[in-house]
Amino acid sequence: MSTQLSNFRYFFLARIYDAALLWFYQPLVRRLVEAVNAEPGNQVLEVGVGTGISLPYYAARKHVTAIDCSLPMLQRARKKAAEHPKVQVELQHAAGEDFQHEAGRFEHVVFCNSLSVVENPSALLGAYYASLRPGGHIYLLNHFTPERGPLRQLDRLLTPAGKVLGFKSFFPLSPLLAPDAIVRTHRGRAGYWRIVHIQKPLLPTC
Ligand SMILES: C[S@@+](CC[C@H](N)C(=O)[O-])C[C@H]1O[C@@H](n2cnc3c(N)ncnc32)[C@H](O)[C@@H]1O
Repeated sequence: MSTQLSNFRYFFLARIYDAALLWFYQPLVRRLVEAVNAEPGNQVLEVGVGTGISLPYYAARKHVTAIDCSLPMLQRARKKAAEHPKVQVELQHAAGEDFQHEAGRFEHVVFCNSLSVVENPSALLGAYYASLRPGGHIYLLNHFTPERGPLRQLDRLLTPAGKVLGFKSFFPLSPLLAPDAIVRTHRGRAGYWRIVHIQKPLLPTC
């Protein structure tokens, strides 16, 4: 998604985003960040941080670099970061596709409801997985289209609406995963919203 289009969409969404998602979404975000906090390694990258819903939950020892391509969302995240000065956070205006960083710099990469809004989720996830330190972690919080059943059909049907609104309605998990990745999932509401924890093996697999 271009930065201009993202700025336009999220100019409106930024105002209502937190209130709209608070009731079911925030506990999942908290759970995800607590999983990050529980792991060793303090260098965290969050891609598509939005209004910064996740920021208050990071432990003070974590150093969080948080990027977003939408200025209105980032402005709210800056406010939230200022309200939680103990959290070490560096906010940057950048698209995940363009963000320059040394390979191996981050031990944890977080996508909270942001992987399904990028142009090419598989390519972006693959690139971050490749640049992740061996033994490092990627955490995804997203809706994932089930392998079968009515929700799969519904996600397909909603694809055109998703395109207009800027997200991928039809979003199955398995095509996104690297073959060597160690994957654990926590299922949220009806298994539709999930936290997916992907770990890169310490040693390359043959
Ligand atoms: C649905 S919101 C989620 C925000 C936040 N992570 C949360 O959980 O509330 C998606 C966010 O991803 C950002 N975004 C979309 N495409 C992006 C990209 N290519 N690179 C970085 N951020 C992107 C949007 O600007 C928006 O703030």
